[in-house]
Amino acid sequence: MMQYGPMKDSSLENDGVSHPHQVGQYPQYDSFASEFLDHASDGFFNAHYDRPACFELLGDLDGKRVLDAACGPGLYAQEMVRRGAVVVGFDQSPRMIELCRQRVPTGEFRIHDLANPLDWLADETFDLVLVALAFEYVDDRVGALRELRRVLTPRGALVMSRQHPTADWLSQGGSYFDTRIVEETWSRGWRLRYWISPLERTCEEIHQSGFLIERLLEPRPTDYAATLNEEQFERLHREPGFMTLRLVRDGTGDR
Ligand SMILES: C[S@@+](CC[C@H](N)C(=O)[O-])C[C@H]1O[C@@H](n2cnc3c(N)ncnc32)[C@H](O)[C@@H]1O
Repeated sequence: MMQYGPMKDSSLENDGVSHPHQVGQYPQYDSFASEFLDHASDGFFNAHYDRPACFELLGDLDGKRVLDAACGPGLYAQEMVRRGAVVVGFDQSPRMIELCRQRVPTGEFRIHDLANPLDWLADETFDLVLVALAFEYVDDRVGALRELRRVLTPRGALVMSRQHPTADWLSQGGSYFDTRIVEETWSRGWRLRYWISPLERTCEEIHQSGFLIERLLEPRPTDYAATLNEEQFERLHREPGFMTLRLVRDGTGDR
């Protein structure tokens, strides 16, 4: 993964206007959605590192109604349906939604950005919400989390995975404590802008949006991952790469 270090220039929103302090709503994954599907289907980081941890925290899915937020090409949705869930999903990328509909014909998917209210979903209608590897791209994370909390049943849970703040700091340098946007070009030439922030900031955003952390995993790659990339396998058994959280509503009323 080639890294650019801290981001210095500005982004272009889909309105063509520069927003140096926002990732914005431009669907960054749209132009390489098929490549992402190819990469994530059986790749080290998605199939053998992130998904096992998220499925562990999602728990039993049989008969559950699940919202797959930033669903990508439907790799999670497909497995959740296989495990007996009823899945509704959304993503900001139109191409991802096309791929998702092809992969999971029984699911219900639409183009939607986490920056916007989920006004097409009623209160307290989902047992589980999943946000896998997408929160890094959201500017107003508290606002998005509050909306996801609204659609969860009182005993529901939100499972979120994201890059580990220590991993971000090790790769980006600078101050661990800065919340900032970085820009990278990943190995397949995908150029991405996203937020990095210290653990404290993520915990505060979770608190401000009315959630409690029920569980936090710092996953290790599965044994099979060693056959794909032994060096990464060993590194990720020494240092964190992602983290996975299960959040529950804090029960102290709406915020
Ligand atoms: C790394 S991919 C993860 C896809 C899927 N969750 C998975 O793990 O297979 C990130 C996804 O988040 C989506 N995304 C990024 N920012 C978003 C936003 N603000 N609202 C909705 N989707 C977003 C991207 O289009 C992309 O599909």
